[in-house]
Amino acid sequence: MKVGFVAAALACGLASAGPSLASEASKPSVTPHQTVVSDKAIKARVEALLVQMTPEEKAGQLFIAFHLSPPPKLEPFVEKGIAEGRIGNVLFVSDPAHANALQRVALEQSRLKIPLMFGFDVIHGLRTIFPVPIGLAASWDPKMVEDVQASAAGEARAVGIQWSFAPNVDIARDPRWGRMVEGAGEDPYLGSVMAAAQVRGFQGPAMGTPNRIIAGVKHFAAYGAALGGRDYDEVNVSDSELWNVYLPPFKAAIDAGAYNVMSAYMPLNGVPATANSWLLTDVLRDTWRFKGFVVSDAGAVGNLVTHGLATDRADAAVKALNAGVTMEMDNNINVFSELPKALAQGAISQVQLDDAVRKVLETKVRLGLFENPYADVRKAAEAIADPERRRLARVAAERSAVLLRNEGAVLPLDRKTLRSVAVIGPLADSARDTEGPWVFKPQADGVTILAGLREKLGPTVRIDHVVGVGMPRRLNGSFIDPEPKAVTPPIDDTAGIAQAVAAARNADVAILVLGEKREMIGENASRASLDLPGKQQDLLEAVVATGKPVVLVLMSGRPLDLKSANPAAILEAWYPGSEGGRAVANLLMGDTVPGGKLPFSWPRNVGQVPLVYSRLSSHAPYQASLRYWDQRGAPVWPFGFGLSYTRFDYEAPSVERTTIAKGERVGVSVTVRNVGTRVGDETVQLYVHQRSGAARPVRELKGFRRVTLQPGETKVVRFELGPDELSYWSSEARAFVQDASAFDVWLGGDSTASARSRFAVVDAAQDGGKPVAP
Ligand code: BGC
Repeated sequence: MKVGFVAAALACGLASAGPSLASEASKPSVTPHQTVVSDKAIKARVEALLVQMTPEEKAGQLFIAFHLSPPPKLEPFVEKGIAEGRIGNVLFVSDPAHANALQRVALEQSRLKIPLMFGFDVIHGLRTIFPVPIGLAASWDPKMVEDVQASAAGEARAVGIQWSFAPNVDIARDPRWGRMVEGAGEDPYLGSVMAAAQVRGFQGPAMGTPNRIIAGVKHFAAYGAALGGRDYDEVNVSDSELWNVYLPPFKAAIDAGAYNVMSAYMPLNGVPATANSWLLTDVLRDTWRFKGFVVSDAGAVGNLVTHGLATDRADAAVKALNAGVTMEMDNNINVFSELPKALAQGAISQVQLDDAVRKVLETKVRLGLFENPYADVRKAAEAIADPERRRLARVAAERSAVLLRNEGAVLPLDRKTLRSVAVIGPLADSARDTEGPWVFKPQADGVTILAGLREKLGPTVRIDHVVGVGMPRRLNGSFIDPEPKAVTPPIDDTAGIAQAVAAARNADVAILVLGEKREMIGENASRASLDLPGKQQDLLEAVVATGKPVVLVLMSGRPLDLKSANPAAILEAWYPGSEGGRAVANLLMGDTVPGGKLPFSWPRNVGQVPLVYSRLSSHAPYQASLRYWDQRGAPVWPFGFGLSYTRFDYEAPSVERTTIAKGERVGVSVTVRNVGTRVGDETVQLYVHQRSGAARPVRELKGFRRVTLQPGETKVVRFELGPDELSYWSSEARAFVQDASAFDVWLGGDSTASARSRFAVVDAAQDGGKPVAP
């Protein structure tokens, strides 16, 4: 992915001078590499190392260098840097033999033999690719998301990676921003639940849990609010938005134990995030008591010069360290190699430098790296081949998919009568697009939707596959994820559409697989339009015009503007990963029932963004859907929306007490019934609205649970609301407050749920706890 960075690294080499021996290295009372049993012993080991280290070696621990697997030409630079103690950490190594070779350099050639720590963007799997994070969020199933990241962690750890640059917990409310695919969408509550679930998955119950890796929460903070949805552009958000919308998922991740935070690229309210001491120190360390280490985003320290904040690299290093960055990630320029000079000049203090180094050494000790520095190549191969991962990848893809339309119950397709299918579209048989962005090595064994359907339907159903149209290339080249020379052979769109129409006419059903290829989403992949790229809209409309039943399977990480196209069924499959084809085939054939729900509001077109369900009432709430002169204001599909092959009915919710005092909790429950004929999952969602005391959103998600219901089955789903759910950050009080107010509460299957109840929060405890009649 980071081809540009690697190229820059090749050009620049490494900058700092070799180590000089610490003159006064006192003899440690604890040998640096003995087995660690307690916090005290950890600290003792860290101190024992620290006293032996030169400033250059210290700076080396605060630097993570790029080194792609398989090793490219820059190896000598990195090897030399490791041997000389100037590189203490490496990213992008994903091959166990390669990791071991570099580790051997650290352990056999460097003076202090401090093991390397390896980091990687394990965003949705390493070898086994799971659905992209926006898809995982659409499952509304935190336990499954935790299992997915635990599985990804196990695979990564086996190949020698100890740290993931994930989860991305950036709230994204503007789908032009490509990195929406990496997060959990628009909502801070859903985002917080998913953030915590991923942290638990990656790290396990404690730092150093076997087969787990460090969770690196990113990008601190509010990166998703980039102006115009343009990646890396500045972010200006109000205090209230910051605390109520953008920061909560970070807080949730840190409360779940995340041991690493990555600072963001862009300026937040005028101050570059990587030199923002309010963010990195006041909020993160002083308010949230974060104990782990902060890494800069790649190149973000050096870029403080680009921002105009720092005069030169040395100044950038000082400003970043002063603000609270512990470790620099860069394109092997190594700006933090300036720190020894800064120390000598008094621009940073010995305490500051040592504290940062302590954090990194402590991390390595807690990870058990001193005891087990090497990957076990045989075990790594076993881990990668573990079929359980593939099963989980399939289940995750099935549970992530969102059924958006199903006119005339065209889905599930009827296996008994189905004789022929036309599978159409440029994404139907594209393995790399099925895997999605942030997959570094395309995997040979990914199952495309075409392949999944072929496998499922067998030889008795005729399948005609037509690509139909080509995909446009990027207007300006990307340095992040360069497109392969030819994703699909060049296509004559007109002839391709005619061929697709003929195939559809000749089939019982047409399944179109359309959307965005993976380069169109992710980092540095903002789009100015939400249209289906290229001629896909024409293809879709032409196939729909045949009058045949059309099922549109979307592969995307953002909402798309489908205009007036009217396929009978639409299934948002996201980028479903290694087992995507099998999962989609199971869903289309009804072997599993879709139960995902949208983690964002689906706008009508790009002019409507940003569009969120949790808006404030503002001046004329009754006009909210009429705000535009030339189009409706409501989304195509609301936040939380998703259909099933069955239907669910809700009874009126009941609150257990009509009045609670501030600080108390109230139970709220609802009865939901499967009124259809198939087993299915419903995600019961709870929304609240504070009626007075402050201008609060018209609705806010404050609870959800995904439940499975047999046909005719009824379940009572109970939630509790307390101060955590009923407080908010007040710009006036400059603190989290809970107001005395009446509250509306809705329970239902999406953010437009109509089953409502009420309760009130009062200042002092009152005897108002009578149950409300349903
Ligand atoms: C991205 C990060 C990523 C890092 C290393 C940066 O460009 O913003 O999210 O972790 O590269 O790949």
